[in-house]
Amino acid sequence: MELVHCIYCSASSNPNLGLADLNSLLAKARATNAKLGVTGILLFHRGSFFQVLEGERDVIEGLYKSISSDNRHTRITKILQESIPHRNFEDWTMGYPHATQQEIENIPGMNDVFKNGRTYIDVCETKARLLLGAFMEGRWHAKLGAIGCV
Ligand SMILES: Cc1cc2nc3c(=O)[nH]c(=O)nc-3n(C[C@H](O)[C@H](O)[C@H](O)COP(=O)(O)O)c2cc1C
Repeated sequence: MELVHCIYCSASSNPNLGLADLNSLLAKARATNAKLGVTGILLFHRGSFFQVLEGERDVIEGLYKSISSDNRHTRITKILQESIPHRNFEDWTMGYPHATQQEIENIPGMNDVFKNGRTYIDVCETKARLLLGAFMEGRWHAKLGAIGCV
């Protein structure tokens, strides 16, 4: 079995996407991911999604295909996909970190990613790794736990 992670970003099709929409998306995603053995995190900020998917390669490639054809978002851009020795988010069938703009901008090198007024993040691989690193460090794990992501 080859374990991989896939990271992409996209823009929400609905500029007024609310918490209820996100919660319903997450509830379905978590149920499916639990069955598929998929873990990861989904970040939604200022109209942009940033998602890390990890799991078995064929499963991740199939899931990414479904996600890519979902009309709830556009400009879906795969940033990277590569083999990983172990999962970084094994506790989360899809964690949803409530990171504030300030918290993200405080990550060294990330200050320009979610600039005021930008509704779509075009994150390069280096920045994706910085974001990933900050999440892996556990900066938001307490918050993830607090909202009970399983
Ligand atoms: C930003 C975003 C992230 C998503 N993440 C997941 C996910 O992690 N797991 C999942 O099963 N579906 C996720 N979905 C939903 C899928 O796009 C799709 O609706 C679901 O896999 C069902 O696909 P199907 O109708 O082709 O079976 C996500 C959708 C969006 C818009």
